[in-house]
Amino acid sequence: MRIAIVGGTGKEGQGLGKGWARAGQEVIIGSRVLERALRAAEAINAAAGRRAATGMLNRDAAAAGEIAVLTVPYDAHAETLQDIREAVRGKILVDVTVPVDPEKPLRLRIPPGGSATEEAQFLLGPGTRVVTAFQNISHTHLAHGETTACDILVCGDDADARQDVIKLAGMLGLRGLDVGPARNARVVEGLTILLMEINRRYKARGAGIRITGIPNATADERK
Ligand SMILES: NC(=O)c1ccc[n+]([C@@H]2O[C@H](COP(=O)([O-])OP(=O)(O)OC[C@H]3O[C@@H](n4cnc5c(N)ncnc54)[C@H](OP(=O)(O)O)[C@@H]3O)[C@@H](O)[C@H]2O)c1
Repeated sequence: MRIAIVGGTGKEGQGLGKGWARAGQEVIIGSRVLERALRAAEAINAAAGRRAATGMLNRDAAAAGEIAVLTVPYDAHAETLQDIREAVRGKILVDVTVPVDPEKPLRLRIPPGGSATEEAQFLLGPGTRVVTAFQNISHTHLAHGETTACDILVCGDDADARQDVIKLAGMLGLRGLDVGPARNARVVEGLTILLMEINRRYKARGAGIRITGIPNATADERK
């Protein structure tokens, strides 16, 4: 699969890109600056040991990808979505954004539209299927391909799109769980603030979450 990562020069985008590249996928890194995108793609190629990634401007990357993943700070969310709006029409957009308050990073900034994911769906319109995922996994695990039991909570209003994104998590060796419609992104995004608080209090780098009590979910959703 050709996976475009818009804002993929940052920590989370790099982590995801390295993971998918190691898993044999093709990765297109998007940036506002072409040179940065190319440099970030080279870092992924070095980690994967093959030419798995290339770099482009955000809009071109979104157009070239079969699926687009958005990894930018919440401050840049609406502007970036406007930029790639046409390029992602007819595709799935995986929104990884957590609406963190830039002044107070351990606080959630409650999005006027409910959650970043709901805002993304509103901005992109019904022609693009927005799915939330990967908010609760730290880039530290992704970048080095560390094994982690962290679950990936996947929500969005299109059930088939959720299943496709669960497969994307599976490529990284992670269990994706279908947690229902887009409005549940309010909870998924908010959980990240708790994980950041836990990281601070316990001097950890990559606290994550594991949902227990669903033994039947494991095997199939790891495929
Ligand atoms: N880091 C994590 O472990 C983690 C975990 C879960 C979720 N998340 C979420 O994932 C998103 C990305 O996190 P990150 O840590 O990767 O962020 P980041 O490194 O601060 O930024 C990612 C990229 O976004 C672009 N960007 C930054 N400011 C921008 C602006 N004002 N306008 C347009 N583009 C801008 C930059 O790319 P260019 O300059 O190349 O355009 C940057 O490299 C955030 O919403 C974060 O909350 C992060």
